[in-house]
Amino acid sequence: MNGPSSSSNVVARVEPAAEALTIRSAEPTDAHRLAELSAVLGYPASATAMARRLDRLLGRDEETVFVAALTSGRVVGWLHGSEQELLESGRRCEIMGVVVDPDHRGRGVGRRLVAAIEQWAVERGLEQMAVRSNVLRAESHPFYERLGYARTKTQHAYRKRLAES
Ligand SMILES: CC(C)(COP(=O)(O)OP(=O)(O)OC[C@H]1O[C@@H](n2cnc3c(N)ncnc32)[C@H](O)[C@@H]1OP(=O)(O)O)[C@@H](O)C(=O)NCCC(=O)NCCS
Repeated sequence: MNGPSSSSNVVARVEPAAEALTIRSAEPTDAHRLAELSAVLGYPASATAMARRLDRLLGRDEETVFVAALTSGRVVGWLHGSEQELLESGRRCEIMGVVVDPDHRGRGVGRRLVAAIEQWAVERGLEQMAVRSNVLRAESHPFYERLGYARTKTQHAYRKRLAES
């Protein structure tokens, strides 16, 4: 699903307010910029760590990462989506993370990234989208609702650090 760079990886070209935008599959050379945007999301990562993660994700058929790039080539947003199979509810596509550069919000970049993952999901025969959003991410709630997502529940998230061997 995430092959090397080629025109076939381009999902959509659109004209936001200021500049043409291309939605395409992420490539290894995007790692540095993905790391910068991950920090905006609240998850700082080194370019090296991001490159490793991206490499593993791009190697798995059930994972995909899209980026939104300006005509200049600058990446202004990314979205990681995943096909999940849950014992209790079957297959679905989950948005694992999405972020748009603060300087480029409100111009339809996020909408186009979500449209790309929905198209990817449809092509895989998936019938349901899911996304979990922190209650503190206030801007993401009206965003998902505008895109047709309905809130179904509020959860607590738990973590446990395992001893390092
Ligand atoms: C949420 C986020 C991805 C939205 O990206 P964006 O490019 O600004 O969103 P878009 O411009 O595509 O907006 C799509 C729709 O959502 C609405 N919307 C977006 N942000 C909104 C906000 N803060 N308040 C109200 N509506 C909003 C837009 O009005 C638009 O509706 P319209 O097309 O019908 O006018 C972006 O704000 C972001 O990166 N936030 C920080 C990270 C985050 O919260 N990620 C989600 C975690 S799961």
